[in-house]
Amino acid sequence: MQSSRFRKLILDFYEKYGRRHLPWRHTRDPYHILVSEIMLQQTQVERVIGKYWEFIEKFPNFKSLAQASTAQVLKAWSGLGYNRRALYLKRTAERVTAEFKEKLPRDLTVLVDLPGVGPNTAAAICAYAFNMPVAFIETNIRRIFIHHFFPKKRNVRDADILPLVRKTLDMKRPREWYSALMDYGAHLKGEVENPNRRSGQYAKQSKFEGSDRQLRGRILKLLLVRGRMDARQLARGAGEPVVRVGRILDALLAERFIREDAAGRMLIV
Ligand code: ADE
Repeated sequence: MQSSRFRKLILDFYEKYGRRHLPWRHTRDPYHILVSEIMLQQTQVERVIGKYWEFIEKFPNFKSLAQASTAQVLKAWSGLGYNRRALYLKRTAERVTAEFKEKLPRDLTVLVDLPGVGPNTAAAICAYAFNMPVAFIETNIRRIFIHHFFPKKRNVRDADILPLVRKTLDMKRPREWYSALMDYGAHLKGEVENPNRRSGQYAKQSKFEGSDRQLRGRILKLLLVRGRMDARQLARGAGEPVVRVGRILDALLAERFIREDAAGRMLIV
């Protein structure tokens, strides 16, 4: 597909059906954009909308998030899943407060280095917060480019897509351009058989029910609600064998999500 025709398709769609109600579209505050992008990494837009305001109201800036306890942050995160992201977001806030005078650096290479911020999230922040014309790929963008530029190909790699993202990027208005891509990509999802199945990156999300991820969430919730508990109490509370719970506790300890007190009880850091 020709670049000019592609651009027109996306921008015409955006003009008609753009999701102007998305709260992060109404801010350029880098902190707000960071929070929204981390939430949107693995959670559906509709679910993020409600949680986003609640989180921003509780923690209005980097400093307040840095100073909050991990337990408070996890509580505000509940319902979003993949709570490791909450911990990373807090650690990022700590670094921005301590190292960058509470201001998120306008620098892709510095952003990539922050906890929980990969290359694509860093670039998205540059585009949405700072209106910088940087090329990046995420699930909506991947879907669009595979559908329109690789209609038959299997195993399309991000490395094949990135030059096209770069070529079609609106250098003057990257913020609007990426918003338009997001909206068109979300729309396309309901229209065609998921083109991302033909991505080299494609991995079907594994089942949640019975997974370690589910148990991990349960354990953290128990610790949040009840405070300190040892492995046996947690195993009883979660209805799971103590060896399995122990394995998950080891991982949580290694991530410094929780710590163990002198009596062998676990608590959120
Ligand atoms: N997914 C990731 N970032 C997004 C954004 N800024 N808007 C909508 N969906 C997104």
